[in-house]
Amino acid sequence: MHTIEDLRRLAKRRTPSGPFDYTDGGADDEVGLSRAREAFRQIEFQPGILRNVSATDTATEVLGKTSALPFGLAPTGFTRMMHSAGERAVARAAADAGVPYTLSTMGTTAIEGLREAAPDGRHWFQLYLLRDRDRSLELIERAAKAGCDTLFLTVDVPALGNRVRDLRNGMTFPPQLTLKTFLDASYRSEWWFNFLTTEPLRFAYGNGRIESSSASELYDNTVTFDDLAWMREAWAGKLVIKGIQTVTDARKAADHGVDGIVVSNHGGRQLDRAPVPLRLLPDVVAAVGSRTSVMLDTGIMNGADIVAGIALGADFTFIGRAYLYGLMAGGEAGVRKCLEILTAEIRRTMALLGVSSITELNPDHVRMPR
Ligand code: LAC
Repeated sequence: MHTIEDLRRLAKRRTPSGPFDYTDGGADDEVGLSRAREAFRQIEFQPGILRNVSATDTATEVLGKTSALPFGLAPTGFTRMMHSAGERAVARAAADAGVPYTLSTMGTTAIEGLREAAPDGRHWFQLYLLRDRDRSLELIERAAKAGCDTLFLTVDVPALGNRVRDLRNGMTFPPQLTLKTFLDASYRSEWWFNFLTTEPLRFAYGNGRIESSSASELYDNTVTFDDLAWMREAWAGKLVIKGIQTVTDARKAADHGVDGIVVSNHGGRQLDRAPVPLRLLPDVVAAVGSRTSVMLDTGIMNGADIVAGIALGADFTFIGRAYLYGLMAGGEAGVRKCLEILTAEIRRTMALLGVSSITELNPDHVRMPR
């Protein structure tokens, strides 16, 4: 396994197509996803030569604490469906790498399970505001009690994106095991053995089993910027909005005093043909970068992508699919492998650019075709 794509190929061989495609796919024609990846490929690095790069320091500050690497692990839904080792394995690998891990509201491990799995890790919690406001508040309280220092409010799911691969595979949301998934899975006996012999899937937010309500019944799509005020009162830690897709909304978020924003199109899983985060990034940084932390995700498959994002002004970045490919390919060891690959790519790219620390990276290191 030398690249994230290597992990992806192995993941595909080992995982039923239901969970694999749920992870791998995007919305509609998957144009948003392929454009996001293409944007990373199109940049041209501008290296500096004859610099002393004998020691490269990959550490950076994010939301008041140090992260050993300039990326964190993004929230992902149903992670124990990808591999039974699930969120706990991901949290452990993140903690050992010295980077934050964000548990999703749609995660399949209880918030309290994070601390048990990785007592020394930096844990964040991602919130979907649920229609049941009391339940949302309860989640916020549980996240605080479980030691999460940052809350991500995801704002780009007023309706669920149209995941065509999931429709074809008979994957519902939340997932149920259908005959089609089952038949396909017969070729992945190890996955099935793990799945059937470990704890049944549960959501992070509840204690019960997955309920068969649709995303639109579950998520509150009446939420507006005004709701940030009560969330601020309910949550004492850092507050981040994930899913900013225009400069106007970045400004609004900054005006509401959030600690950070994630420029993201949800991995191309929501509105197809949405703005490409890497392209939008420089304008967002120019508009609000002095007032709030600007972070980036969507389409990152290489440590060099992370370096490019940081050079173009991101304070921090996130990977989602990349670590899930690792998880599906080899459980916890696969996640560790993913982090190892990305770390080596970041170090190598920094050295080749003539840069020894993350703060030295700046827009002069990247030329982006318009
Ligand atoms: C997804 C949501 C649930 O992308 O975050 O599947």
